[in-house]
Amino acid sequence: MADQYPFHQREKGKQQTSMKMHTKELMNLMRKQWLLSHVYIEIIISIGFGATKLWLSNLTIDPKFMHKRQQRYGKAFKSFVLGRFTVFMTGREASKILLTGKDGMVSLNLFYTGQQVLGPNSLLQANGEEHKRLRRLIAEPLSIDGLKKYFHFINSQATETLDRWSGQRVLVLEEASSFTLKVIGNMIMSLEPSGEEQEKFRSNFKLISSSFSSLPFKIPGTAFYNGMKARNSMFAMLDSIIAKRRNGEVIQQDFLESLIIKHSKGKTTFDGENKLTDQQMKDNILTLLVAGHDTTTAALTWLIKFLGENPEVLEELREEHLQIQANRKDGTGLTWSEVNNLPYTIKVLNETLRRATILPWYSRKAAQDFQIDGYNIEKGWSINLDVVSIHHDPGTFPDPEKFDPSRFDAPLKTFSYLGFGSGPRMCPGMNLAKLEICIFIHHLVCRYKWRALEKDDSVQATLVRMPKNKYPVMVEPL
Ligand code: HEM
Ligand SMILES: *[C@@H]1O[C@H](CO)[C@@H](O)[C@H](O)[C@H]1NC(C)=O
Repeated sequence: MADQYPFHQREKGKQQTSMKMHTKELMNLMRKQWLLSHVYIEIIISIGFGATKLWLSNLTIDPKFMHKRQQRYGKAFKSFVLGRFTVFMTGREASKILLTGKDGMVSLNLFYTGQQVLGPNSLLQANGEEHKRLRRLIAEPLSIDGLKKYFHFINSQATETLDRWSGQRVLVLEEASSFTLKVIGNMIMSLEPSGEEQEKFRSNFKLISSSFSSLPFKIPGTAFYNGMKARNSMFAMLDSIIAKRRNGEVIQQDFLESLIIKHSKGKTTFDGENKLTDQQMKDNILTLLVAGHDTTTAALTWLIKFLGENPEVLEELREEHLQIQANRKDGTGLTWSEVNNLPYTIKVLNETLRRATILPWYSRKAAQDFQIDGYNIEKGWSINLDVVSIHHDPGTFPDPEKFDPSRFDAPLKTFSYLGFGSGPRMCPGMNLAKLEICIFIHHLVCRYKWRALEKDDSVQATLVRMPKNKYPVMVEPL
Protein backbone atom coordinates (compact mmCIF):
# COMPACT_ATOMS: atom_id res chain seq x y z
CA MET A 1 0.00 0.00 0.00
CA ALA A 2 2.65 2.47 1.05
CA ASP A 3 4.65 2.28 -2.16
CA GLN A 4 1.52 2.33 -4.23
CA TYR A 5 0.47 5.67 -2.83
CA PRO A 6 3.76 7.41 -2.19
CA PHE A 7 2.61 10.91 -3.09
CA HIS A 8 -0.59 10.64 -1.16
CA GLN A 9 1.03 9.36 2.02
CA ARG A 10 3.92 11.71 1.97
CA GLU A 11 1.94 14.86 1.26
CA LYS A 12 -1.04 14.27 3.53
CA GLY A 13 0.37 16.51 6.21
CA LYS A 14 1.14 19.26 3.76
CA GLN A 15 -2.41 19.54 2.51
CA GLN A 16 -3.52 21.21 5.74
CA THR A 17 -0.83 23.83 5.57
CA SER A 18 -1.60 24.67 1.96
CA MET A 19 -3.93 27.46 3.03
CA LYS A 20 -1.00 29.33 4.53
CA MET A 21 0.68 29.84 1.21
CA HIS A 22 3.26 32.51 0.90
CA THR A 23 1.79 35.61 -0.75
CA LYS A 24 4.43 35.66 -3.43
CA GLU A 25 3.89 32.03 -4.17
CA LEU A 26 0.16 32.56 -4.32
CA MET A 27 0.55 35.43 -6.77
CA ASN A 28 2.76 33.25 -8.88
CA LEU A 29 0.25 30.45 -8.88
CA MET A 30 -2.59 32.80 -9.73
CA ARG A 31 -0.63 34.26 -12.59
CA LYS A 32 -0.07 30.77 -13.97
CA GLN A 33 -3.69 29.82 -13.36
CA TRP A 34 -4.79 32.91 -15.17
CA LEU A 35 -2.49 32.16 -18.06
CA LEU A 36 -3.84 28.66 -18.31
CA SER A 37 -7.51 29.49 -18.10
CA HIS A 38 -7.43 32.57 -20.27
CA VAL A 39 -5.14 31.30 -22.91
CA TYR A 40 -7.55 32.05 -25.75
CA ILE A 41 -7.81 35.69 -24.73
CA GLU A 42 -4.07 35.78 -24.23
CA ILE A 43 -3.49 34.38 -27.66
CA ILE A 44 -5.69 36.98 -29.32
CA ILE A 45 -4.06 39.82 -27.42
CA SER A 46 -0.57 38.69 -28.17
CA ILE A 47 -0.72 37.47 -31.75
CA GLY A 48 1.80 40.09 -32.71
CA PHE A 49 4.16 39.36 -29.80
CA GLY A 50 5.44 35.86 -29.92
CA ALA A 51 2.09 34.14 -29.50
CA THR A 52 3.67 30.84 -30.40
CA LYS A 53 5.61 30.96 -27.17
CA LEU A 54 2.42 31.22 -25.17
CA TRP A 55 0.80 28.34 -26.97
CA LEU A 56 3.91 26.34 -26.25
CA SER A 57 3.89 27.26 -22.59
CA ASN A 58 0.49 25.64 -22.50
CA LEU A 59 1.49 22.45 -24.19
CA THR A 60 4.61 22.08 -22.12
CA ILE A 61 3.50 23.27 -18.72
CA ASP A 62 6.56 23.84 -16.61
CA PRO A 63 7.55 20.64 -14.73
CA LYS A 64 8.37 22.73 -11.64
CA PHE A 65 4.82 24.05 -11.64
CA MET A 66 3.55 20.47 -11.91
CA HIS A 67 5.78 19.37 -9.09
CA LYS A 68 4.58 22.13 -6.78
CA ARG A 69 0.96 21.35 -7.46
CA GLN A 70 1.59 17.67 -6.96
CA GLN A 71 3.10 18.37 -3.58
CA ARG A 72 0.19 20.51 -2.64
CA TYR A 73 -2.68 18.40 -3.87
CA GLY A 74 -1.30 14.87 -3.88
CA LYS A 75 -1.82 12.46 -6.72
CA ALA A 76 -4.17 14.51 -8.87
CA PHE A 77 -4.88 18.12 -9.64
CA LYS A 78 -7.29 19.78 -11.98
CA SER A 79 -6.78 22.84 -14.17
CA PHE A 80 -8.79 24.58 -16.83
CA VAL A 81 -6.75 24.48 -20.03
CA LEU A 82 -7.97 25.57 -23.46
CA GLY A 83 -11.58 25.60 -22.43
CA ARG A 84 -11.59 22.12 -20.98
CA PHE A 85 -11.01 20.53 -17.60
CA THR A 86 -7.61 18.96 -17.56
CA VAL A 87 -6.54 16.58 -14.85
CA PHE A 88 -2.92 15.71 -14.15
CA MET A 89 -2.45 12.38 -12.46
CA THR A 90 0.46 10.34 -11.22
CA GLY A 91 0.97 6.91 -9.64
CA ARG A 92 0.80 3.32 -10.82
CA GLU A 93 -2.96 3.05 -10.44
CA ALA A 94 -3.51 5.99 -12.80
CA SER A 95 -0.94 4.61 -15.32
CA LYS A 96 -2.65 1.27 -15.33
CA ILE A 97 -6.15 2.61 -15.88
CA LEU A 98 -5.19 5.29 -18.39
CA LEU A 99 -2.73 3.29 -20.47
CA THR A 100 -4.67 0.05 -20.53
CA GLY A 101 -7.81 2.03 -21.33
CA LYS A 102 -10.13 -0.88 -20.57
CA ASP A 103 -13.66 -0.86 -22.01
CA GLY A 104 -12.97 2.16 -24.20
CA MET A 105 -12.75 4.37 -21.14
CA VAL A 106 -10.25 6.73 -22.73
CA SER A 107 -9.04 7.76 -26.17
CA LEU A 108 -5.78 9.43 -27.15
CA ASN A 109 -6.04 13.17 -26.76
CA LEU A 110 -4.24 14.80 -29.67
CA PHE A 111 -4.28 18.60 -29.54
CA TYR A 112 -5.82 20.53 -32.43
CA THR A 113 -2.61 21.45 -34.29
CA GLY A 114 -1.43 17.85 -34.12
CA GLN A 115 -4.70 16.67 -35.62
CA GLN A 116 -4.36 19.11 -38.52
CA VAL A 117 -0.73 18.28 -39.20
CA LEU A 118 -1.01 14.49 -39.02
CA GLY A 119 -4.37 14.29 -40.81
CA PRO A 120 -7.68 12.58 -40.04
CA ASN A 121 -6.44 9.07 -40.93
CA SER A 122 -3.48 9.05 -38.54
CA LEU A 123 -3.40 6.14 -36.13
CA LEU A 124 -2.99 8.73 -33.39
CA GLN A 125 -6.57 9.75 -34.10
CA ALA A 126 -7.99 6.24 -34.46
CA ASN A 127 -9.66 4.32 -31.65
CA GLY A 128 -10.94 0.82 -30.97
CA GLU A 129 -10.96 -1.62 -33.89
CA GLU A 130 -9.66 0.86 -36.45
CA HIS A 131 -6.71 1.63 -34.20
CA LYS A 132 -5.98 -2.09 -33.75
CA ARG A 133 -6.11 -2.66 -37.50
CA LEU A 134 -3.64 0.15 -38.23
CA ARG A 135 -1.32 -1.15 -35.49
CA ARG A 136 -1.40 -4.63 -37.05
CA LEU A 137 -0.44 -3.20 -40.43
CA ILE A 138 2.67 -1.45 -39.14
CA ALA A 139 3.69 -4.11 -36.61
CA GLU A 140 5.48 -6.50 -38.96
CA PRO A 141 7.88 -4.07 -40.69
CA LEU A 142 8.77 -2.58 -37.28
CA SER A 143 9.31 -5.94 -35.56
CA ILE A 144 12.84 -7.14 -34.80
CA ASP A 145 12.74 -9.56 -37.75
CA GLY A 146 11.30 -6.92 -40.04
CA LEU A 147 14.11 -4.51 -39.15
CA LYS A 148 16.94 -6.88 -39.93
CA LYS A 149 17.14 -5.74 -43.53
CA TYR A 150 17.91 -2.16 -42.47
CA PHE A 151 20.84 -3.13 -40.27
CA HIS A 152 23.50 -2.46 -42.90
CA PHE A 153 22.11 0.91 -43.85
CA ILE A 154 21.89 2.05 -40.23
CA ASN A 155 25.37 0.74 -39.51
CA SER A 156 26.91 2.53 -42.48
CA GLN A 157 25.13 5.81 -41.65
CA ALA A 158 26.34 5.66 -38.05
CA THR A 159 29.91 5.04 -39.20
CA GLU A 160 29.80 7.80 -41.80
CA THR A 161 28.36 10.30 -39.33
CA LEU A 162 31.03 9.45 -36.76
CA ASP A 163 33.86 9.58 -39.34
CA ARG A 164 33.23 13.31 -39.49
CA TRP A 165 33.51 13.75 -35.70
CA SER A 166 37.20 13.10 -35.20
CA GLY A 167 38.96 16.10 -33.63
CA GLN A 168 35.86 18.26 -34.19
CA ARG A 169 33.50 20.40 -32.18
CA VAL A 170 30.04 18.94 -32.81
CA LEU A 171 26.48 19.71 -31.77
CA VAL A 172 25.34 16.24 -30.77
CA LEU A 173 21.64 17.01 -31.21
CA GLU A 174 22.11 18.20 -34.82
CA GLU A 175 24.18 15.15 -35.69
CA ALA A 176 21.71 12.77 -34.06
CA SER A 177 18.86 14.49 -35.87
CA SER A 178 20.45 14.12 -39.29
CA PHE A 179 21.37 10.48 -38.60
CA THR A 180 17.88 9.46 -37.46
CA LEU A 181 16.22 11.30 -40.35
CA LYS A 182 18.36 9.49 -42.91
CA VAL A 183 17.54 6.17 -41.27
CA ILE A 184 13.79 6.69 -41.19
CA GLY A 185 13.69 8.12 -44.75
CA ASN A 186 15.50 5.05 -45.99
CA MET A 187 13.41 2.66 -43.97
CA ILE A 188 10.11 4.10 -45.09
CA MET A 189 10.78 4.83 -48.75
CA SER A 190 14.37 3.86 -49.60
CA LEU A 191 15.44 7.48 -49.75
CA GLU A 192 19.15 7.93 -50.53
CA PRO A 193 21.08 9.47 -47.58
CA SER A 194 22.27 12.42 -49.67
CA GLY A 195 21.23 14.35 -52.75
CA GLU A 196 18.36 16.54 -53.85
CA GLU A 197 15.53 14.27 -52.68
CA GLN A 198 17.04 13.95 -49.19
CA GLU A 199 17.40 17.75 -48.97
CA LYS A 200 13.81 18.29 -50.02
CA PHE A 201 12.67 15.66 -47.55
CA ARG A 202 14.70 17.23 -44.76
CA SER A 203 13.48 20.79 -45.33
CA ASN A 204 9.84 19.69 -45.61
CA PHE A 205 10.15 17.57 -42.51
CA LYS A 206 11.71 20.42 -40.52
CA LEU A 207 8.80 22.72 -41.41
CA ILE A 208 6.24 20.06 -40.51
CA SER A 209 8.00 19.32 -37.27
CA SER A 210 8.17 22.95 -36.16
CA SER A 211 4.52 23.53 -37.06
CA PHE A 212 3.50 20.67 -34.79
CA SER A 213 3.35 22.78 -31.66
CA SER A 214 2.43 26.09 -33.29
CA LEU A 215 -0.75 28.10 -33.16
CA PRO A 216 -3.28 26.68 -35.61
CA PHE A 217 -3.76 29.83 -37.68
CA LYS A 218 -3.53 29.38 -41.41
CA ILE A 219 -2.09 32.80 -42.12
CA PRO A 220 0.76 33.07 -44.66
CA GLY A 221 4.10 33.32 -42.91
CA THR A 222 3.11 31.46 -39.74
CA ALA A 223 4.75 28.18 -38.73
CA PHE A 224 1.40 26.45 -39.08
CA TYR A 225 0.85 27.70 -42.64
CA ASN A 226 4.37 26.70 -43.67
CA GLY A 227 3.95 23.32 -42.04
CA MET A 228 0.72 22.58 -43.88
CA LYS A 229 2.37 23.63 -47.15
CA ALA A 230 5.31 21.34 -46.42
CA ARG A 231 2.85 18.55 -45.64
CA ASN A 232 1.32 18.93 -49.11
CA SER A 233 4.73 18.92 -50.70
CA MET A 234 5.73 15.81 -48.73
CA PHE A 235 2.54 14.12 -49.88
CA ALA A 236 3.23 15.05 -53.53
CA MET A 237 6.61 13.35 -53.14
CA LEU A 238 4.96 10.25 -51.67
CA ASP A 239 2.34 10.23 -54.47
CA SER A 240 5.03 10.12 -57.10
CA ILE A 241 6.92 7.33 -55.28
CA ILE A 242 3.72 5.32 -54.83
CA ALA A 243 2.87 5.74 -58.54
CA LYS A 244 6.30 4.46 -59.57
CA ARG A 245 5.92 1.43 -57.32
CA ARG A 246 2.44 0.66 -58.60
CA ASN A 247 3.42 0.63 -62.26
CA GLY A 248 6.44 -1.52 -61.51
CA GLU A 249 8.99 1.14 -62.51
CA VAL A 250 10.80 0.83 -59.19
CA ILE A 251 10.97 -2.17 -56.87
CA GLN A 252 12.18 -1.74 -53.30
CA GLN A 253 11.92 -3.59 -50.04
CA ASP A 254 10.84 -0.93 -47.62
CA PHE A 255 7.99 0.06 -45.37
CA LEU A 256 6.02 1.71 -48.16
CA GLU A 257 6.32 -1.40 -50.32
CA SER A 258 5.02 -3.62 -47.54
CA LEU A 259 1.97 -1.35 -47.17
CA ILE A 260 1.38 -1.31 -50.94
CA ILE A 261 1.63 -5.10 -51.17
CA LYS A 262 -0.75 -5.58 -48.26
CA HIS A 263 -3.03 -3.02 -49.83
CA SER A 264 -3.24 -4.86 -53.17
CA LYS A 265 -3.79 -8.19 -51.44
CA GLY A 266 -6.65 -6.60 -49.51
CA LYS A 267 -8.57 -6.15 -52.75
CA THR A 268 -9.13 -9.86 -53.11
CA THR A 269 -10.18 -10.60 -49.53
CA PHE A 270 -13.67 -10.12 -48.16
CA ASP A 271 -12.91 -8.29 -44.95
CA GLY A 272 -10.65 -5.66 -46.50
CA GLU A 273 -8.44 -5.93 -43.40
CA ASN A 274 -5.38 -4.66 -45.23
CA LYS A 275 -7.03 -2.19 -47.48
CA LEU A 276 -5.73 1.32 -46.99
CA THR A 277 -6.56 4.29 -49.15
CA ASP A 278 -3.61 6.33 -50.37
CA GLN A 279 -4.66 9.06 -47.97
CA GLN A 280 -4.55 6.60 -45.05
CA MET A 281 -1.13 5.41 -46.15
CA LYS A 282 0.25 8.94 -46.38
CA ASP A 283 -1.19 10.18 -43.08
CA ASN A 284 0.31 7.20 -41.28
CA ILE A 285 3.69 7.46 -42.92
CA LEU A 286 3.80 11.07 -41.78
CA THR A 287 2.71 9.94 -38.31
CA LEU A 288 5.62 7.52 -38.08
CA LEU A 289 8.02 10.24 -39.20
CA VAL A 290 6.73 12.78 -36.70
CA ALA A 291 6.41 10.33 -33.80
CA GLY A 292 9.74 8.66 -34.49
CA HIS A 293 12.18 11.37 -35.42
CA ASP A 294 12.38 13.87 -32.57
CA THR A 295 11.95 11.17 -29.95
CA THR A 296 14.85 9.04 -31.18
CA THR A 297 17.00 12.15 -31.70
CA ALA A 298 16.31 13.31 -28.15
CA ALA A 299 16.96 9.87 -26.65
CA LEU A 300 20.30 9.50 -28.44
CA THR A 301 21.39 13.00 -27.44
CA TRP A 302 20.41 12.60 -23.76
CA LEU A 303 22.14 9.23 -23.64
CA ILE A 304 25.42 10.69 -24.91
CA LYS A 305 25.06 13.60 -22.46
CA PHE A 306 24.43 11.28 -19.49
CA LEU A 307 27.45 9.18 -20.49
CA GLY A 308 29.56 12.34 -20.62
CA GLU A 309 28.42 13.24 -17.10
CA ASN A 310 28.83 9.76 -15.60
CA PRO A 311 32.34 8.45 -16.39
CA GLU A 312 31.89 5.20 -14.42
CA VAL A 313 28.80 4.32 -16.49
CA LEU A 314 30.66 5.18 -19.70
CA GLU A 315 33.53 2.89 -18.62
CA GLU A 316 31.22 -0.04 -18.01
CA LEU A 317 29.37 0.54 -21.25
CA ARG A 318 32.60 0.84 -23.23
CA GLU A 319 33.76 -2.43 -21.67
CA GLU A 320 30.65 -4.19 -23.05
CA HIS A 321 31.37 -2.89 -26.55
CA LEU A 322 35.13 -3.41 -26.56
CA GLN A 323 34.51 -6.98 -25.45
CA ILE A 324 32.42 -7.55 -28.58
CA GLN A 325 35.28 -6.27 -30.72
CA ALA A 326 37.80 -8.43 -28.86
CA ASN A 327 35.67 -11.54 -29.41
CA ARG A 328 35.75 -11.08 -33.16
CA LYS A 329 38.38 -13.17 -34.81
CA ASP A 330 38.41 -11.82 -38.32
CA GLY A 331 38.28 -8.06 -37.86
CA THR A 332 34.83 -7.79 -39.48
CA GLY A 333 32.37 -5.12 -38.48
CA LEU A 334 29.47 -5.11 -36.05
CA THR A 335 26.91 -7.87 -36.70
CA TRP A 336 23.16 -8.22 -36.24
CA SER A 337 23.45 -10.77 -33.46
CA GLU A 338 26.01 -8.66 -31.58
CA VAL A 339 23.80 -5.61 -31.61
CA ASN A 340 20.90 -7.65 -30.26
CA ASN A 341 22.86 -8.81 -27.27
CA LEU A 342 23.83 -5.69 -25.32
CA PRO A 343 22.36 -6.08 -21.83
CA TYR A 344 24.17 -3.16 -20.19
CA THR A 345 23.48 -0.80 -23.11
CA ILE A 346 19.75 -1.53 -22.80
CA LYS A 347 19.88 -0.63 -19.11
CA VAL A 348 21.66 2.61 -19.99
CA LEU A 349 18.93 3.35 -22.55
CA ASN A 350 16.16 2.58 -20.07
CA GLU A 351 17.78 4.78 -17.46
CA THR A 352 18.10 7.55 -20.07
CA LEU A 353 14.39 7.37 -20.89
CA ARG A 354 13.56 7.40 -17.19
CA ARG A 355 15.82 10.28 -16.24
CA ALA A 356 15.07 12.44 -19.30
CA THR A 357 11.41 11.40 -19.76
CA ILE A 358 11.38 12.93 -23.22
CA LEU A 359 7.57 12.83 -23.45
CA PRO A 360 6.68 14.41 -20.09
CA TRP A 361 3.09 13.23 -20.10
CA TYR A 362 0.78 10.94 -22.00
CA SER A 363 -2.54 12.53 -22.76
CA ARG A 364 -5.96 10.87 -22.87
CA LYS A 365 -9.56 12.00 -23.17
CA ALA A 366 -12.27 10.47 -20.99
CA ALA A 367 -14.82 8.66 -23.17
CA GLN A 368 -17.11 8.12 -20.17
CA ASP A 369 -17.34 8.98 -16.46
CA PHE A 370 -15.08 6.90 -14.22
CA GLN A 371 -12.93 6.97 -11.11
CA ILE A 372 -9.21 6.73 -10.47
CA ASP A 373 -8.04 6.41 -6.87
CA GLY A 374 -11.41 7.68 -5.74
CA TYR A 375 -11.06 10.73 -7.95
CA ASN A 376 -14.06 11.39 -10.22
CA ILE A 377 -13.30 11.92 -13.88
CA GLU A 378 -16.06 13.20 -16.14
CA LYS A 379 -16.62 12.37 -19.78
CA GLY A 380 -14.86 14.83 -22.09
CA TRP A 381 -12.13 15.87 -19.64
CA SER A 382 -8.57 15.51 -20.70
CA ILE A 383 -6.42 13.49 -18.36
CA ASN A 384 -2.67 13.71 -18.53
CA LEU A 385 -0.52 11.07 -16.95
CA ASP A 386 2.39 12.94 -15.37
CA VAL A 387 5.21 10.59 -16.34
CA VAL A 388 7.99 12.82 -14.99
CA SER A 389 6.66 12.24 -11.45
CA ILE A 390 6.19 8.52 -12.02
CA HIS A 391 9.79 8.26 -13.24
CA HIS A 392 11.09 10.25 -10.27
CA ASP A 393 9.09 8.56 -7.54
CA PRO A 394 11.63 7.89 -4.78
CA GLY A 395 9.63 4.82 -3.70
CA THR A 396 10.54 3.06 -6.95
CA PHE A 397 13.72 4.96 -7.85
CA PRO A 398 15.71 5.93 -4.75
CA ASP A 399 17.77 9.13 -5.25
CA PRO A 400 15.74 9.76 -8.43
CA GLU A 401 17.97 12.52 -9.87
CA LYS A 402 20.94 10.18 -10.04
CA PHE A 403 21.76 8.49 -13.37
CA ASP A 404 22.15 4.85 -12.41
CA PRO A 405 21.51 2.05 -14.95
CA SER A 406 21.81 -0.61 -12.22
CA ARG A 407 18.25 0.32 -11.22
CA PHE A 408 17.25 -1.99 -14.04
CA ASP A 409 19.23 -4.98 -12.73
CA ALA A 410 16.08 -6.43 -11.21
CA PRO A 411 12.62 -6.29 -12.82
CA LEU A 412 10.51 -3.30 -11.77
CA LYS A 413 6.87 -3.33 -10.77
CA THR A 414 4.52 -3.01 -13.72
CA PHE A 415 3.43 0.54 -14.61
CA SER A 416 6.25 2.12 -12.62
CA TYR A 417 8.52 2.58 -15.64
CA LEU A 418 7.01 3.84 -18.90
CA GLY A 419 9.93 4.66 -21.21
CA PHE A 420 8.00 3.54 -24.30
CA GLY A 421 4.55 3.65 -22.69
CA SER A 422 2.40 0.61 -22.07
CA GLY A 423 -0.81 -1.07 -23.24
CA PRO A 424 -2.42 -0.83 -26.67
CA ARG A 425 -0.69 2.44 -27.46
CA MET A 426 2.79 1.37 -26.42
CA CYS A 427 5.37 2.70 -28.87
CA PRO A 428 5.37 0.65 -32.08
CA GLY A 429 8.77 2.09 -33.06
CA MET A 430 10.58 0.83 -29.96
CA ASN A 431 12.69 -1.79 -31.75
CA LEU A 432 13.76 0.65 -34.43
CA ALA A 433 14.75 3.27 -31.85
CA LYS A 434 16.73 0.72 -29.82
CA LEU A 435 18.49 -0.56 -32.94
CA GLU A 436 19.55 2.92 -34.10
CA ILE A 437 20.74 3.90 -30.65
CA CYS A 438 22.68 0.68 -29.97
CA ILE A 439 24.48 0.82 -33.31
CA PHE A 440 25.40 4.49 -32.97
CA ILE A 441 26.58 4.09 -29.39
CA HIS A 442 28.69 1.06 -30.30
CA HIS A 443 30.77 3.03 -32.79
CA LEU A 444 30.88 6.13 -30.62
CA VAL A 445 32.29 4.50 -27.48
CA CYS A 446 34.69 2.23 -29.35
CA ARG A 447 36.26 5.12 -31.23
CA TYR A 448 36.01 8.34 -29.27
CA LYS A 449 36.11 10.24 -26.04
CA TRP A 450 34.37 13.60 -25.76
CA ARG A 451 34.13 16.60 -23.48
CA ALA A 452 31.14 18.90 -22.97
CA LEU A 453 31.86 22.48 -23.99
CA GLU A 454 29.16 24.06 -21.85
CA LYS A 455 27.63 23.39 -18.48
CA ASP A 456 23.95 23.87 -19.17
CA ASP A 457 21.08 21.64 -18.14
CA SER A 458 18.19 23.65 -19.54
CA VAL A 459 15.54 21.84 -21.49
CA GLN A 460 14.04 23.13 -24.73
CA ALA A 461 10.37 24.14 -24.45
CA THR A 462 9.10 21.77 -27.12
CA LEU A 463 6.77 18.79 -26.88
CA VAL A 464 9.72 16.40 -26.92
CA ARG A 465 12.19 17.38 -24.20
CA MET A 466 15.70 17.99 -25.53
CA PRO A 467 18.85 19.70 -24.22
CA LYS A 468 18.37 23.37 -25.10
CA ASN A 469 22.01 23.94 -26.06
CA LYS A 470 22.03 20.87 -28.34
CA TYR A 471 24.91 19.46 -26.25
CA PRO A 472 28.07 20.88 -27.88
CA VAL A 473 31.12 18.63 -27.37
CA MET A 474 34.76 18.38 -28.41
CA VAL A 475 35.58 14.91 -29.78
CA GLU A 476 38.96 13.13 -29.73
CA PRO A 477 39.95 9.64 -30.88
CA LEU A 478 40.51 7.19 -28.01
C1 HEM B 1 13.58 6.55 -28.13
C2 HEM B 1 12.66 6.83 -29.00
C3 HEM B 1 11.18 6.79 -28.72
C4 HEM B 1 10.50 6.99 -27.54
C5 HEM B 1 11.08 7.33 -26.18
C6 HEM B 1 9.10 6.81 -27.83
C7 HEM B 1 8.10 6.90 -26.87
C8 HEM B 1 6.76 6.67 -27.13
C9 HEM B 1 5.72 6.64 -26.12
C10 HEM B 1 5.96 6.86 -24.63
C11 HEM B 1 4.53 6.41 -26.74
C12 HEM B 1 3.17 6.27 -26.08
C13 HEM B 1 2.54 7.60 -25.79
C14 HEM B 1 1.18 7.48 -25.14
O1 HEM B 1 0.84 6.44 -24.58
O2 HEM B 1 0.45 8.49 -25.15
C15 HEM B 1 4.82 6.30 -28.16
C16 HEM B 1 3.87 6.10 -29.14
C17 HEM B 1 4.16 6.06 -30.50
N1 HEM B 1 5.42 6.02 -31.07
FE1 HEM B 1 7.17 6.15 -30.11
N2 HEM B 1 8.95 6.54 -29.17
C18 HEM B 1 10.19 6.48 -29.74
C19 HEM B 1 10.48 6.18 -31.05
C20 HEM B 1 9.54 5.94 -32.04
C21 HEM B 1 9.84 5.59 -33.41
C22 HEM B 1 11.23 5.37 -33.98
C23 HEM B 1 8.63 5.50 -34.07
C24 HEM B 1 8.32 5.18 -35.51
C25 HEM B 1 9.05 4.55 -36.35
C26 HEM B 1 7.59 5.78 -33.10
C27 HEM B 1 6.24 5.81 -33.38
C28 HEM B 1 5.25 5.93 -32.44
C29 HEM B 1 3.83 5.93 -32.77
C30 HEM B 1 3.22 5.84 -34.17
C31 HEM B 1 3.13 6.01 -31.54
C32 HEM B 1 1.63 6.05 -31.33
C33 HEM B 1 1.12 4.66 -31.07
C34 HEM B 1 -0.38 4.59 -30.86
O3 HEM B 1 -1.02 5.60 -30.56
O4 HEM B 1 -0.90 3.48 -30.99
N3 HEM B 1 8.18 6.04 -31.88
N4 HEM B 1 6.19 6.45 -28.37
C1 LIG C 1 13.87 -1.76 -20.43
O1 LIG C 1 12.56 -1.23 -20.58
C2 LIG C 1 11.66 -2.02 -21.32
C3 LIG C 1 10.37 -1.28 -21.43
O2 LIG C 1 10.53 -0.06 -22.09
C4 LIG C 1 11.47 -3.36 -20.67
O3 LIG C 1 10.61 -4.19 -21.44
C5 LIG C 1 12.81 -4.03 -20.50
O4 LIG C 1 12.65 -5.22 -19.75
C6 LIG C 1 13.79 -3.12 -19.78
N1 LIG C 1 15.10 -3.75 -19.81
C7 LIG C 1 15.87 -3.84 -18.74
C8 LIG C 1 17.15 -4.53 -18.88
O5 LIG C 1 15.53 -3.35 -17.70
